[in-house]
Amino acid sequence: MSDNALYTDLSNYYDLMCADINYQAQSNSAHRLHQIFGNSGKQHLDLACGTGPHIHYLSQAGYQSSGLDINQPMLDIAKLRCPGARFELGNMCEFNVAEPYDLITCFLYSVHYSGDIKNLTSCIQSVYNSLSSGGVFCFNSVDKNHIDNSLSAKHSVVHDESEFSFGSSWYYCGEGNKQTLKLSIEKATALQTQRWADEHPMVALSFSELQDLLKPYFDVHIFEHEHDKIIPWNQQSGNAIFVCVKK
Ligand SMILES: C[S@@+](CC[C@H](N)C(=O)[O-])C[C@H]1O[C@@H](n2cnc3c(N)ncnc32)[C@H](O)[C@@H]1O
Repeated sequence: MSDNALYTDLSNYYDLMCADINYQAQSNSAHRLHQIFGNSGKQHLDLACGTGPHIHYLSQAGYQSSGLDINQPMLDIAKLRCPGARFELGNMCEFNVAEPYDLITCFLYSVHYSGDIKNLTSCIQSVYNSLSSGGVFCFNSVDKNHIDNSLSAKHSVVHDESEFSFGSSWYYCGEGNKQTLKLSIEKATALQTQRWADEHPMVALSFSELQDLLKPYFDVHIFEHEHDKIIPWNQQSGNAIFVCVKK
């Protein structure tokens, strides 16, 4: 059992694991929200950028995109995917930038990798300090009080004469500020089956707690977790898109 094999030794399987995710729709959604709430600048930074899918699509939409991630194997893949973008190895909880950005994104719930409230606060402050006037921080989040420990997502894909099965689920014990992302990978060939399981510790918080952390720095707008339309958050959904405009 490892903490984060998926982002290191198994990084070559990451894109297969995410094959079902519509990154183009997510990126288009961030672009539209930035057009509505942002300052029309084109300097973009993707935090916890992973293998760079959002950078790929936002570059196509005209942004000068950069990526920051804490795991070099993920950045190595991102560089191959987006040769024109800049990438930096670093921690989103304590980063500095040479020039301000107009749009900072952080998707696939990666802001929760901050780990605890102190580090999440530091991440929010780093984002604030790195944005230009009127710049936008756009990310998605899950409310700890809406996590259903019995739910899991699974999918399979055949690749290179192997059948891969991927699973993911949230776990929250019901109190405190820690949740876990559980990930499983199974690779079956004619000769053998290999299995790996990751447990990623993450920060857990309610949307109300998250808004309290953001509001000193940003005007906060919350939307339903839909990527093909913009719908204000109904105050009940446990997944949402946060659009935070620098004060
Ligand atoms: C679920 S993946 C998301 C990758 C990408 N944003 C996407 O949507 O596919 C989470 C990423 O967060 C990165 N990560 C975890 N903790 C981090 C930190 N403290 N600072 C920067 N990146 C981090 C991991 O290396 C991994 O690439």
